[in-house]
Amino acid sequence: MLRKDFLWGGATAANQFEGGFDEGGRGLATSDTKTNGSKDRPRKHSFLTPEGNIVYLRGSEPIPADYRCVLDPERYYPSHRAVDFYHRWREDVDLLAEMGVNAFRMSVSWTRIFPNGDDEVPNEEGLAFYDAVFDALLARGIQPVVTINHFDMPVALSEKYDGWLSRHTVDAYVRLCDVLFRRYCGRVRHWMTFNEINLLRGWDTLGVHELDDARYQQALYHIFVASAKAVALGHQIDPENHVGMMLAAILTYAETCNPADVALELAVGRRLKWLFADVQCRGYYPSYALRELAAKGIELVREPGDDEVLRAGCVDYIGFSYYNSGVVTTRPDAPRALGNGVALAENPYLESSAWGWPIDPVGLRTTLNVLWDRYQKPLFVVENGLGAEDVVEEDGSIHDEARIDYLRRHVAEMKKAVDEDGVDLMGYTPWGVIDLVSAGTGEMKKRYGMVYVDMDDEGAGTLERRRKDSFYWYQRCIATSGEVA
Ligand code: BG6
Repeated sequence: MLRKDFLWGGATAANQFEGGFDEGGRGLATSDTKTNGSKDRPRKHSFLTPEGNIVYLRGSEPIPADYRCVLDPERYYPSHRAVDFYHRWREDVDLLAEMGVNAFRMSVSWTRIFPNGDDEVPNEEGLAFYDAVFDALLARGIQPVVTINHFDMPVALSEKYDGWLSRHTVDAYVRLCDVLFRRYCGRVRHWMTFNEINLLRGWDTLGVHELDDARYQQALYHIFVASAKAVALGHQIDPENHVGMMLAAILTYAETCNPADVALELAVGRRLKWLFADVQCRGYYPSYALRELAAKGIELVREPGDDEVLRAGCVDYIGFSYYNSGVVTTRPDAPRALGNGVALAENPYLESSAWGWPIDPVGLRTTLNVLWDRYQKPLFVVENGLGAEDVVEEDGSIHDEARIDYLRRHVAEMKKAVDEDGVDLMGYTPWGVIDLVSAGTGEMKKRYGMVYVDMDDEGAGTLERRRKDSFYWYQRCIATSGEVA
């Protein structure tokens, strides 16, 4: 049986959902310079070169240190209005309440609270916005579940300090946490320090110029320290706080029982996800990671006391996203399949979404078991869902059967993990419960929601909200504690 206090909800992120990018005193974030794209046309950031030209680069490319952020008036940047939660939050909260959820996962926009990331005083207008949203949610019996940092950072911290490469950013982040924990004390009880910490790999999420492996490892170290400090601070300010991590739990299978495939799967798994969960759940770097750093000649710059900080800042729970699994093989010519954050080899036993992500509900049960066995920490599925195009019928209805089928099968496996395997599961918040902009492609047509938002890939549309068939399915699912699955 699911816990009595099981959290049934939906998940969003500020840069994909909130909008109001230049309102209420908000400062510029890295996500604001990211264009839309498609499956075949990657999203890029606009930069101004020292010669005064605007160039477009992917976040994963090494960004030259003398490039500055710039907005191109000719381009559409999806984060600027996103789906306008900033102005439509009352209606959205009503829809969530009608759906029957008791939790809503959202992130705060760092630059709405500290426009430059490290200002002397926080921006009262930004804090008041989240006051209003949290109060409205709570008034409807919906607990806010807050991701403190989801895939963006203040441009000012990137330009002045090289983002997470600098210890200064650790202090700025901890100050943000301090303000959040105090201001929303007693109202927000569930926090996550960094979204998909194992997928923070480019300029947009790290703010680091000229990124290479050594600079990446240093930035990551700072993020681990920042997260650990946040956990300890969260507990100190309110012992009722639950402060968790958030992992992209990419389940990997070895393609064959060839020991070389199995050994490679182990190595890939460590690099892809275990390092991140090991540090955040156990409070120290695992030996395999220390050996790898030494082998590469990378020496992390640490401060005295850091080891204690990491140890004292172990997370309370593991929030994770689960969309797909992937296959690891030593065969160099194996066909690739896309997926959340990483492309692995194809799995002939699975079907894929229209965006090429393998669909593997049983893999969710496996993931829950593997995480539970390894860490014995409460688990929270904070993202799951099917990115698919929707058709609005003439009468305005939306029959999203494929999405219902995906969710139903995943909920069924999740319940088995609890009922038959004894996993401790806190909740389920499927992704993009109200349609939002895709993080990977910047498209609007890759929809996850149970509420349709009238907007296209170029930002045109009325932004009107419409209930899909999945809205009513999820309502029944929650009302029956997942039995309809
Ligand atoms: C996760 C992110 O990677 O997957 C979300 O936390 C993202 O921000 C989600 O939107 C789905 O990915 P995409 O690329 O389909 O939006």
